[in-house]
Amino acid sequence: MPKFSLETASQRLTAEAASWLREALFEGAFAVDATVGNGFDSLFLAHQVGKTGTVLGFDVQKRALGDAREMLKFAGTIDRARFIHDSHSHLENYIEPDQLVHGAMFNLGYLPRGDRRIITRPETTILALQAVLRHLTPGGRITVLAYRGHEGGTFEYIQIRLYLEELSAEFVRVEELAGSNDSETAPRLFRILKRPTVPE
Ligand SMILES: C[S@@+](CC[C@H](N)C(=O)[O-])C[C@H]1O[C@@H](n2cnc3c(N)ncnc32)[C@H](O)[C@@H]1O
Repeated sequence: MPKFSLETASQRLTAEAASWLREALFEGAFAVDATVGNGFDSLFLAHQVGKTGTVLGFDVQKRALGDAREMLKFAGTIDRARFIHDSHSHLENYIEPDQLVHGAMFNLGYLPRGDRRIITRPETTILALQAVLRHLTPGGRITVLAYRGHEGGTFEYIQIRLYLEELSAEFVRVEELAGSNDSETAPRLFRILKRPTVPE
């Protein structure tokens, strides 16, 4: 039996992820976009963290990062973005040891309109989740949107679910959301909240 319940989201899961994550972000916040892709999530995060905030973004595809950079330039928000051409599993190489992360987005799978053979993989996704969790501030939030319709997608979803189930409920609250049209191949959203520390 899962340790967390499955809920149904009335709005699209991408919109649901954004509106839930927004609560943890503010002017000056530090956010991570684990999979920059076309840059839509980075653009959203850049708006949320404001002029004095930071978006640390990763992608293994140089071209995607270039396109995302152009979009943020056009939107006037590139000043707060740091795009890294490397796997998100190497996050620790690009962040100060004491840097707190307020929010992070993982939008898994392949790049829409891109090379469908380049997909996120559970081994590296879980390493990246572990790294973000080490830096996540109490009250900080992570969203993981897992697609199950492509080859390897369901496997990655299951591996992530197993990993999240093992996390201590005292340390994090994990919720899983299905869209209103759920099927075996429909995406699922995980919402991970690092519990605020209780004063002793
Ligand atoms: C679904 S797309 C992301 C969509 C994106 N967030 C947006 O707003 O358009 C998934 C992306 O993950 C990238 N990716 C795959 N493996 C990765 C890894 N190990 N580290 C970072 N990015 C990775 C792919 O290149 C692809 O661009």
